[in-house]
Amino acid sequence: MRGGKTVGWVEFEKVTKKFGDVIAVNNVSFSIEKGEFFTLLGPSGCGKTTTLRLIAGLEIPTSGIIRIAGEDVTLKFPGQRNVAMVFQNYALYPHMTVYQNIAYPLVVRKTPKKKIEERVKYVAEHLQIDTLLDRYPMEISGGQQQRVALARAIIQTPNVFLLDEPLSNLDAKLRLEARSFLKHLHHELETTTIYVTHDQSEAMALSTRIAVMNEGIIKQIGTPKEIYEKPADIFVAGFIGNPPMNILEFHTDGNSMILDGQKIKIEKIHGILKKLGEKAYLGIRPEYIKLGKEGDLVGEVYVVEPLGVENVVTLKLEKQYLKVLTFEETVFKPGQKLWIYFRRDKLNFFDSSGKRVAFENEEET
Ligand SMILES: Nc1ncnc2c1ncn2[C@@H]1O[C@H](COP(=O)(O)OP(=O)(O)OP(=O)(O)O)[C@@H](O)[C@H]1O
Ligand SMILES: [Mg+2]
Repeated sequence: MRGGKTVGWVEFEKVTKKFGDVIAVNNVSFSIEKGEFFTLLGPSGCGKTTTLRLIAGLEIPTSGIIRIAGEDVTLKFPGQRNVAMVFQNYALYPHMTVYQNIAYPLVVRKTPKKKIEERVKYVAEHLQIDTLLDRYPMEISGGQQQRVALARAIIQTPNVFLLDEPLSNLDAKLRLEARSFLKHLHHELETTTIYVTHDQSEAMALSTRIAVMNEGIIKQIGTPKEIYEKPADIFVAGFIGNPPMNILEFHTDGNSMILDGQKIKIEKIHGILKKLGEKAYLGIRPEYIKLGKEGDLVGEVYVVEPLGVENVVTLKLEKQYLKVLTFEETVFKPGQKLWIYFRRDKLNFFDSSGKRVAFENEEET
């Protein structure tokens, strides 16, 4: 503790990184606890890689302070930070075999040969590259190269793992298997991990906390559940979940909501409607909507997409569309008119600027 504040294992204090006119990271602050699996999630170009490179010491911030393990490392060289990084473009040593690439960080640390062999075997088997150990990087595929780069990082025991989209080039099945292995490994080693992805399901599955970024700014930091249930704004709401949260524009006359010409009666809603102003947004996840013979408003089935166990039903209101995830056997047909019911405990409201407005009795997260 320092001044009553918990000291994090990796800390950013008002860090900004500019490249000429581009502000890649804009006044970002966060504090990551030791042992966390912390994910930076956001669209292409939002500043994820730059943030990792700042932690690794491959970039120096334009302003702000970076601390690792209680030490100010803002101006320290990469070699002085004890971090292991997987780069988005792998950066394997071309003149070394796969085995030598993976073993390299341990060879440098003069780890006993036997121990190195054991560790290489363990990670290579779990990442399914154990048959490639004698080949050179040129002789293996992109997805295989990516797994070699990942193996080379996770063979180490650093202060922090920095993993930049380490599974992006793998096919769907392998990606899921490697994801489970990473989670297992984190459970086993408890090494603080900072993970970058633009895949929301990966972020949800792996992380203790997620930071959602957009245009160099952190929009929200929270547990996967907090981010899923109470997104800070419309951007976060639309980025998480598959299909993402429905965002429906409505207006209010102070007492009730009017959504595409239909008046919706929701109990105990007056307080929040007063806070919202005339135009606002309702946010509701597709799995928290029920379809049937009664409900809040009527919509017409636009399209039905079967995904195996569940169906995604898109409904058209007067102008807006919404998606419903249903696990029922009921067959819905395009053109069919249905009542739509919103689960009361799962409603989110956003003001005209897109910012979430909390209910009075709701705990702030
Ligand atoms: N060396 C550089 N020189 C100039 N601009 C840069 C440099 N590196 C990054 N940028 C810019 O900074 C912004 C953030 O880039 P960054 O690589 O951090 O994004 P990212 O979130 O990792 O994106 P992606 O998902 O596509 O990898 C982008 O607008 C990018 O063009
Ligand atoms: Mg990147």
